[in-house]
Amino acid sequence: MTTSIKTIGLLTGGGDCPGLNAVIRAVVLSGSYEHGWVMVGFLDGFEGLMDERYINLTPQSVRGILPQGGTILGTSNRGNPFEWRVKDGNDWKIVDRSEKVYQTMKGLGLDALIVIGGDGTMTVSKLFMDKYGVKVVGVPKTIDNDLKATEVTFGFATAVVTATEALDKLHTTAASHHRVMIMEVMGRYVGWIALESGIAGGADVILLPEIPYDIEKICDKIHSRRSRGSNFAIVVVAEGAYSKDGEITLLNPEEKGTIHAKLGGVGLRIAHEIEARTGMETRVTVLGHLQRGGTPCSFDRFVATRFGKAAIDLVEQGKFGHMVCYRGGKIDSIPIADAIGGFKAVDPQGEAVKTAEALGVSFGR
Ligand code: F6P
Repeated sequence: MTTSIKTIGLLTGGGDCPGLNAVIRAVVLSGSYEHGWVMVGFLDGFEGLMDERYINLTPQSVRGILPQGGTILGTSNRGNPFEWRVKDGNDWKIVDRSEKVYQTMKGLGLDALIVIGGDGTMTVSKLFMDKYGVKVVGVPKTIDNDLKATEVTFGFATAVVTATEALDKLHTTAASHHRVMIMEVMGRYVGWIALESGIAGGADVILLPEIPYDIEKICDKIHSRRSRGSNFAIVVVAEGAYSKDGEITLLNPEEKGTIHAKLGGVGLRIAHEIEARTGMETRVTVLGHLQRGGTPCSFDRFVATRFGKAAIDLVEQGKFGHMVCYRGGKIDSIPIADAIGGFKAVDPQGEAVKTAEALGVSFGR
Protein backbone atom coordinates (compact mmCIF):
# COMPACT_ATOMS: atom_id res chain seq x y z
CA MET A 1 0.00 0.00 0.00
CA THR A 2 1.30 3.44 -1.00
CA THR A 3 0.84 6.10 1.64
CA SER A 4 3.14 8.80 0.28
CA ILE A 5 0.74 10.01 -2.44
CA LYS A 6 -0.27 13.64 -2.16
CA THR A 7 -0.76 15.09 -5.63
CA ILE A 8 -2.21 13.42 -8.72
CA GLY A 9 -2.21 14.70 -12.29
CA LEU A 10 -5.06 13.88 -14.64
CA LEU A 11 -5.47 14.31 -18.38
CA THR A 12 -7.73 13.23 -21.23
CA GLY A 13 -6.04 12.38 -24.53
CA GLY A 14 -7.11 11.31 -28.02
CA GLY A 15 -10.57 11.87 -29.50
CA ASP A 16 -13.24 12.80 -26.98
CA CYS A 17 -16.13 10.50 -26.19
CA PRO A 18 -19.19 10.52 -23.94
CA GLY A 19 -18.28 9.55 -20.38
CA LEU A 20 -14.91 11.31 -20.01
CA ASN A 21 -16.38 13.79 -17.54
CA ALA A 22 -17.88 10.96 -15.53
CA VAL A 23 -14.38 9.49 -15.12
CA ILE A 24 -12.91 12.88 -14.16
CA ARG A 25 -15.65 13.34 -11.56
CA ALA A 26 -15.13 9.87 -10.09
CA VAL A 27 -11.34 10.32 -9.92
CA VAL A 28 -11.66 13.70 -8.23
CA LEU A 29 -14.40 12.74 -5.76
CA SER A 30 -12.80 9.46 -4.81
CA GLY A 31 -9.24 10.83 -4.64
CA SER A 32 -10.33 13.77 -2.59
CA TYR A 33 -12.99 12.28 -0.27
CA GLU A 34 -11.33 8.93 0.32
CA HIS A 35 -7.69 10.04 0.43
CA GLY A 36 -7.51 13.83 0.66
CA TRP A 37 -5.25 13.99 -2.41
CA VAL A 38 -4.76 17.16 -4.45
CA MET A 39 -5.82 16.81 -8.10
CA VAL A 40 -4.33 18.73 -11.00
CA GLY A 41 -6.08 18.55 -14.38
CA PHE A 42 -3.93 19.21 -17.47
CA LEU A 43 -5.65 20.91 -20.38
CA ASP A 44 -5.77 19.44 -23.89
CA GLY A 45 -3.99 16.20 -23.11
CA PHE A 46 -0.20 16.17 -23.07
CA GLU A 47 -0.18 19.68 -24.54
CA GLY A 48 -1.17 21.03 -21.13
CA LEU A 49 1.87 19.35 -19.64
CA MET A 50 4.14 20.82 -22.30
CA ASP A 51 2.74 24.33 -21.90
CA GLU A 52 2.07 24.23 -18.14
CA ARG A 53 -1.67 24.71 -18.64
CA TYR A 54 -3.60 23.10 -15.83
CA ILE A 55 -6.39 23.64 -13.33
CA ASN A 56 -6.91 22.46 -9.80
CA LEU A 57 -9.67 19.91 -9.65
CA THR A 58 -11.82 19.87 -6.54
CA PRO A 59 -15.21 18.33 -5.71
CA GLN A 60 -16.69 21.78 -6.40
CA SER A 61 -15.10 22.02 -9.86
CA VAL A 62 -16.59 18.69 -11.00
CA ARG A 63 -20.09 19.46 -9.76
CA GLY A 64 -22.73 18.86 -12.45
CA ILE A 65 -20.40 17.35 -15.07
CA LEU A 66 -21.63 13.73 -14.84
CA PRO A 67 -24.17 14.05 -17.69
CA GLN A 68 -22.01 16.34 -19.84
CA GLY A 69 -20.46 15.08 -23.07
CA GLY A 70 -16.88 15.93 -24.05
CA THR A 71 -14.24 16.64 -21.43
CA ILE A 72 -13.93 19.69 -19.21
CA LEU A 73 -10.14 19.30 -19.55
CA GLY A 74 -10.11 19.44 -23.35
CA THR A 75 -8.20 16.88 -25.36
CA SER A 76 -6.02 16.46 -28.42
CA ASN A 77 -5.36 13.58 -30.74
CA ARG A 78 -2.26 15.21 -32.20
CA GLY A 79 -0.19 15.53 -29.06
CA ASN A 80 2.77 13.17 -28.80
CA PRO A 81 5.46 15.20 -26.97
CA PHE A 82 8.14 12.73 -28.12
CA GLU A 83 7.36 13.60 -31.73
CA TRP A 84 6.06 17.13 -31.61
CA ARG A 85 5.52 18.83 -34.98
CA VAL A 86 6.74 22.43 -35.17
CA LYS A 87 6.76 24.83 -38.09
CA ASP A 88 10.23 25.35 -39.55
CA GLY A 89 9.92 28.03 -42.22
CA ASN A 90 7.62 26.51 -44.82
CA ASP A 91 8.24 23.00 -43.57
CA TRP A 92 7.51 21.01 -40.45
CA LYS A 93 10.11 19.43 -38.23
CA ILE A 94 9.74 16.89 -35.43
CA VAL A 95 11.14 17.74 -32.00
CA ASP A 96 11.19 15.83 -28.71
CA ARG A 97 9.46 17.89 -26.00
CA SER A 98 9.14 15.07 -23.50
CA GLU A 99 11.72 16.59 -21.13
CA LYS A 100 9.52 19.67 -20.77
CA VAL A 101 6.56 17.46 -19.84
CA TYR A 102 8.64 15.69 -17.25
CA GLN A 103 9.88 18.97 -15.78
CA THR A 104 6.27 20.21 -15.45
CA MET A 105 5.33 17.08 -13.54
CA LYS A 106 8.40 17.37 -11.34
CA GLY A 107 7.80 21.06 -10.70
CA LEU A 108 4.27 20.37 -9.53
CA GLY A 109 5.44 17.50 -7.35
CA LEU A 110 3.12 14.98 -9.01
CA ASP A 111 3.19 11.58 -7.36
CA ALA A 112 1.22 9.92 -10.15
CA LEU A 113 -0.47 10.67 -13.46
CA ILE A 114 -3.85 9.25 -14.47
CA VAL A 115 -4.28 9.24 -18.25
CA ILE A 116 -7.70 8.69 -19.81
CA GLY A 117 -7.31 7.78 -23.45
CA GLY A 118 -7.10 5.23 -26.20
CA ASP A 119 -4.27 3.27 -27.68
CA GLY A 120 -2.27 6.34 -28.76
CA THR A 121 -2.46 7.99 -25.32
CA MET A 122 -1.47 4.74 -23.60
CA THR A 123 1.48 4.33 -25.97
CA VAL A 124 2.75 7.84 -25.18
CA SER A 125 2.21 7.20 -21.46
CA LYS A 126 4.32 4.08 -21.64
CA LEU A 127 7.14 6.10 -23.19
CA PHE A 128 7.04 8.43 -20.16
CA MET A 129 7.10 5.45 -17.82
CA ASP A 130 10.06 3.90 -19.62
CA LYS A 131 12.14 7.03 -20.13
CA TYR A 132 11.38 9.09 -17.01
CA GLY A 133 9.90 6.59 -14.57
CA VAL A 134 6.59 8.47 -14.47
CA LYS A 135 4.02 6.65 -12.33
CA VAL A 136 1.16 6.25 -14.74
CA VAL A 137 -2.27 4.68 -14.35
CA GLY A 138 -4.44 4.34 -17.47
CA VAL A 139 -8.20 4.51 -18.07
CA PRO A 140 -9.32 3.28 -21.52
CA LYS A 141 -11.85 5.19 -23.61
CA THR A 142 -13.10 4.77 -27.15
CA ILE A 143 -16.27 5.05 -29.18
CA ASP A 144 -14.77 2.49 -31.57
CA ASN A 145 -14.75 -0.39 -29.02
CA ASP A 146 -11.45 -1.49 -30.55
CA LEU A 147 -9.28 -1.86 -27.44
CA LYS A 148 -8.21 -5.46 -27.11
CA ALA A 149 -7.46 -5.21 -23.38
CA THR A 150 -10.98 -4.48 -22.23
CA GLU A 151 -14.28 -6.17 -23.06
CA VAL A 152 -16.12 -2.93 -22.53
CA THR A 153 -15.34 0.72 -22.18
CA PHE A 154 -17.41 3.88 -22.02
CA GLY A 155 -18.32 5.98 -25.07
CA PHE A 156 -19.20 3.12 -27.37
CA ALA A 157 -22.69 2.47 -26.02
CA THR A 158 -23.68 6.11 -26.43
CA ALA A 159 -22.33 6.15 -29.99
CA VAL A 160 -24.43 3.07 -30.78
CA VAL A 161 -27.54 4.72 -29.31
CA THR A 162 -26.96 7.81 -31.46
CA ALA A 163 -26.45 5.70 -34.60
CA THR A 164 -29.51 3.56 -33.86
CA GLU A 165 -31.72 6.61 -33.38
CA ALA A 166 -30.45 7.98 -36.68
CA LEU A 167 -31.34 4.70 -38.41
CA ASP A 168 -34.86 4.85 -37.01
CA LYS A 169 -35.23 8.28 -38.57
CA LEU A 170 -33.74 7.21 -41.89
CA HIS A 171 -36.19 4.31 -42.05
CA THR A 172 -39.25 6.54 -42.26
CA THR A 173 -37.88 8.80 -44.97
CA ALA A 174 -36.44 5.84 -46.93
CA ALA A 175 -39.82 4.10 -46.92
CA SER A 176 -41.68 7.28 -47.91
CA HIS A 177 -39.44 8.01 -50.90
CA HIS A 178 -38.67 4.39 -51.88
CA ARG A 179 -34.97 5.09 -51.62
CA VAL A 180 -31.82 3.34 -50.58
CA MET A 181 -30.47 5.15 -47.54
CA ILE A 182 -26.82 4.67 -46.66
CA MET A 183 -25.52 5.69 -43.26
CA GLU A 184 -21.76 5.89 -42.77
CA VAL A 185 -20.60 5.49 -39.18
CA MET A 186 -17.26 5.83 -37.41
CA GLY A 187 -15.12 3.05 -35.97
CA ARG A 188 -11.82 3.38 -37.80
CA TYR A 189 -10.53 -0.09 -38.64
CA VAL A 190 -13.27 -2.04 -36.84
CA GLY A 191 -17.00 -2.37 -37.43
CA TRP A 192 -18.50 -2.51 -33.93
CA ILE A 193 -20.61 0.66 -34.22
CA ALA A 194 -21.91 -0.43 -37.64
CA LEU A 195 -22.66 -3.95 -36.44
CA GLU A 196 -24.47 -3.08 -33.23
CA SER A 197 -26.40 -0.08 -34.54
CA GLY A 198 -27.16 -1.96 -37.76
CA ILE A 199 -28.71 -4.85 -35.88
CA ALA A 200 -30.46 -2.61 -33.35
CA GLY A 201 -31.74 -0.32 -36.11
CA GLY A 202 -32.95 -3.10 -38.42
CA ALA A 203 -30.56 -2.40 -41.32
CA ASP A 204 -30.84 -4.53 -44.45
CA VAL A 205 -27.13 -4.35 -45.27
CA ILE A 206 -24.25 -3.92 -42.80
CA LEU A 207 -20.74 -3.39 -44.12
CA LEU A 208 -17.70 -3.87 -41.89
CA PRO A 209 -13.94 -3.64 -42.39
CA GLU A 210 -13.76 -7.22 -41.11
CA ILE A 211 -15.85 -8.49 -44.06
CA PRO A 212 -14.71 -6.96 -47.38
CA TYR A 213 -17.87 -6.50 -49.42
CA ASP A 214 -18.92 -7.52 -52.90
CA ILE A 215 -21.08 -4.77 -54.44
CA GLU A 216 -23.02 -7.37 -56.43
CA LYS A 217 -24.09 -9.09 -53.19
CA ILE A 218 -25.30 -5.77 -51.79
CA CYS A 219 -27.36 -5.11 -54.92
CA ASP A 220 -28.71 -8.70 -54.85
CA LYS A 221 -30.11 -7.94 -51.40
CA ILE A 222 -31.73 -4.72 -52.59
CA HIS A 223 -33.23 -6.52 -55.63
CA SER A 224 -34.56 -9.36 -53.50
CA ARG A 225 -36.24 -6.90 -51.14
CA ARG A 226 -37.81 -5.16 -54.11
CA SER A 227 -39.08 -8.44 -55.56
CA ARG A 228 -40.80 -9.07 -52.22
CA GLY A 229 -42.49 -5.67 -52.26
CA SER A 230 -40.06 -3.63 -50.11
CA ASN A 231 -39.01 -0.79 -52.32
CA PHE A 232 -36.50 0.81 -49.97
CA ALA A 233 -33.35 -0.36 -48.18
CA ILE A 234 -31.19 0.71 -45.28
CA VAL A 235 -27.42 0.24 -45.51
CA VAL A 236 -25.05 0.89 -42.60
CA VAL A 237 -21.43 1.15 -43.60
CA ALA A 238 -18.46 1.46 -41.27
CA GLU A 239 -16.04 4.17 -42.39
CA GLY A 240 -13.28 1.54 -42.60
CA ALA A 241 -15.24 -0.87 -44.83
CA TYR A 242 -13.83 -1.66 -48.26
CA SER A 243 -14.68 -3.86 -51.22
CA LYS A 244 -13.10 -7.26 -51.69
CA ASP A 245 -10.96 -5.88 -54.49
CA GLY A 246 -10.54 -2.36 -53.17
CA GLU A 247 -9.09 -0.49 -50.24
CA ILE A 248 -10.13 1.80 -47.41
CA THR A 249 -11.47 5.20 -48.54
CA LEU A 250 -9.67 8.20 -47.07
CA LEU A 251 -10.92 11.76 -46.83
CA ASN A 252 -7.49 12.98 -47.97
CA PRO A 253 -5.80 10.26 -50.05
CA GLU A 254 -2.44 12.04 -49.67
CA GLU A 255 -2.51 11.10 -45.96
CA LYS A 256 -2.41 7.40 -46.86
CA GLY A 257 0.01 5.46 -44.67
CA THR A 258 0.27 8.19 -42.00
CA ILE A 259 -1.14 7.99 -38.47
CA HIS A 260 -3.16 11.12 -39.28
CA ALA A 261 -5.08 9.45 -42.13
CA LYS A 262 -8.77 10.31 -41.76
CA LEU A 263 -11.23 7.67 -42.93
CA GLY A 264 -14.38 8.65 -44.77
CA GLY A 265 -16.19 8.63 -48.10
CA VAL A 266 -17.02 4.95 -48.51
CA GLY A 267 -20.75 5.70 -48.16
CA LEU A 268 -20.74 7.98 -51.18
CA ARG A 269 -18.67 5.54 -53.18
CA ILE A 270 -21.17 2.74 -52.52
CA ALA A 271 -24.12 5.05 -53.22
CA HIS A 272 -22.91 5.74 -56.76
CA GLU A 273 -22.43 2.04 -57.40
CA ILE A 274 -25.84 1.03 -56.00
CA GLU A 275 -27.63 3.73 -57.97
CA ALA A 276 -25.88 2.72 -61.19
CA ARG A 277 -26.61 -0.99 -60.69
CA THR A 278 -30.15 -0.91 -59.29
CA GLY A 279 -31.53 2.34 -60.69
CA MET A 280 -32.83 3.17 -57.21
CA GLU A 281 -32.44 6.67 -55.88
CA THR A 282 -29.80 6.52 -53.16
CA ARG A 283 -28.85 9.02 -50.47
CA VAL A 284 -25.98 9.13 -47.99
CA THR A 285 -25.86 10.33 -44.39
CA VAL A 286 -22.45 10.61 -42.78
CA LEU A 287 -23.12 10.57 -39.05
CA GLY A 288 -19.64 11.83 -38.22
CA HIS A 289 -18.89 13.51 -34.92
CA LEU A 290 -22.51 13.37 -33.76
CA GLN A 291 -21.45 9.92 -32.55
CA ARG A 292 -18.85 11.44 -30.23
CA GLY A 293 -20.90 14.27 -28.78
CA GLY A 294 -23.76 14.62 -26.37
CA THR A 295 -24.68 13.25 -23.01
CA PRO A 296 -23.41 9.77 -22.12
CA CYS A 297 -26.05 7.06 -21.76
CA SER A 298 -26.51 5.54 -18.31
CA PHE A 299 -24.38 2.49 -19.16
CA ASP A 300 -21.41 4.68 -20.12
CA ARG A 301 -21.77 6.79 -16.95
CA PHE A 302 -21.89 3.59 -14.90
CA VAL A 303 -18.74 2.12 -16.46
CA ALA A 304 -16.89 5.47 -16.50
CA THR A 305 -17.60 6.11 -12.84
CA ARG A 306 -16.33 2.66 -11.84
CA PHE A 307 -13.23 3.10 -14.02
CA GLY A 308 -12.45 6.44 -12.36
CA LYS A 309 -12.70 5.00 -8.84
CA ALA A 310 -10.68 1.93 -9.95
CA ALA A 311 -7.91 4.21 -11.24
CA ILE A 312 -7.66 5.84 -7.81
CA ASP A 313 -7.50 2.35 -6.26
CA LEU A 314 -4.58 1.44 -8.54
CA VAL A 315 -2.72 4.59 -7.48
CA GLU A 316 -3.41 3.81 -3.84
CA GLN A 317 -2.13 0.25 -4.30
CA GLY A 318 0.99 1.51 -6.11
CA LYS A 319 -0.01 -0.50 -9.17
CA PHE A 320 1.62 1.88 -11.63
CA GLY A 321 2.00 1.05 -15.30
CA HIS A 322 -1.44 -0.54 -15.22
CA MET A 323 -4.65 0.35 -16.99
CA VAL A 324 -8.09 -0.39 -15.61
CA CYS A 325 -10.16 -2.70 -17.78
CA TYR A 326 -13.38 -4.70 -17.78
CA ARG A 327 -13.16 -8.47 -17.94
CA GLY A 328 -15.65 -11.19 -17.15
CA GLY A 329 -18.19 -8.63 -16.00
CA LYS A 330 -15.78 -7.12 -13.45
CA ILE A 331 -13.45 -4.16 -13.21
CA ASP A 332 -9.87 -5.41 -13.40
CA SER A 333 -6.47 -4.08 -14.50
CA ILE A 334 -3.80 -5.00 -17.03
CA PRO A 335 -0.22 -3.79 -17.62
CA ILE A 336 -0.31 -0.92 -20.13
CA ALA A 337 2.48 -2.71 -22.02
CA ASP A 338 0.09 -5.59 -22.70
CA ALA A 339 -2.83 -3.32 -23.53
CA ILE A 340 -1.35 -1.37 -26.44
CA GLY A 341 -0.93 -2.32 -30.10
CA GLY A 342 -3.33 -4.44 -32.10
CA PHE A 343 -7.07 -4.10 -31.82
CA LYS A 344 -10.25 -5.99 -31.08
CA ALA A 345 -12.11 -6.74 -34.30
CA VAL A 346 -15.57 -8.12 -35.04
CA ASP A 347 -15.49 -11.88 -35.62
CA PRO A 348 -16.91 -12.41 -39.14
CA GLN A 349 -18.09 -15.87 -38.02
CA GLY A 350 -19.21 -14.71 -34.58
CA GLU A 351 -22.65 -15.05 -33.04
CA ALA A 352 -23.76 -11.46 -33.69
CA VAL A 353 -22.92 -11.57 -37.40
CA LYS A 354 -24.50 -15.02 -37.75
CA THR A 355 -27.64 -13.86 -35.96
CA ALA A 356 -28.01 -10.93 -38.33
CA GLU A 357 -27.46 -13.17 -41.36
CA ALA A 358 -30.08 -15.61 -40.07
CA LEU A 359 -32.51 -12.70 -40.11
CA GLY A 360 -31.68 -11.87 -43.71
CA VAL A 361 -29.16 -9.05 -43.18
CA SER A 362 -26.52 -8.94 -45.90
CA PHE A 363 -22.87 -8.26 -45.05
CA GLY A 364 -22.10 -8.06 -48.74
CA ARG A 365 -20.47 -11.49 -48.82
O1 F6P B 1 -11.25 6.96 -32.73
C1 F6P B 1 -12.41 7.70 -32.59
C2 F6P B 1 -12.79 8.34 -33.89
O2 F6P B 1 -14.01 9.05 -33.71
C3 F6P B 1 -12.89 7.40 -35.08
O3 F6P B 1 -14.06 6.62 -35.06
C4 F6P B 1 -12.75 8.37 -36.23
O4 F6P B 1 -12.24 7.74 -37.38
C5 F6P B 1 -11.78 9.37 -35.69
O5 F6P B 1 -11.83 9.30 -34.28
C6 F6P B 1 -12.07 10.79 -36.12
O6 F6P B 1 -11.06 11.61 -35.66
P1 F6P B 1 -11.11 13.19 -35.75
O7 F6P B 1 -11.94 13.68 -34.61
O8 F6P B 1 -9.70 13.59 -35.64
O9 F6P B 1 -11.75 13.54 -37.06
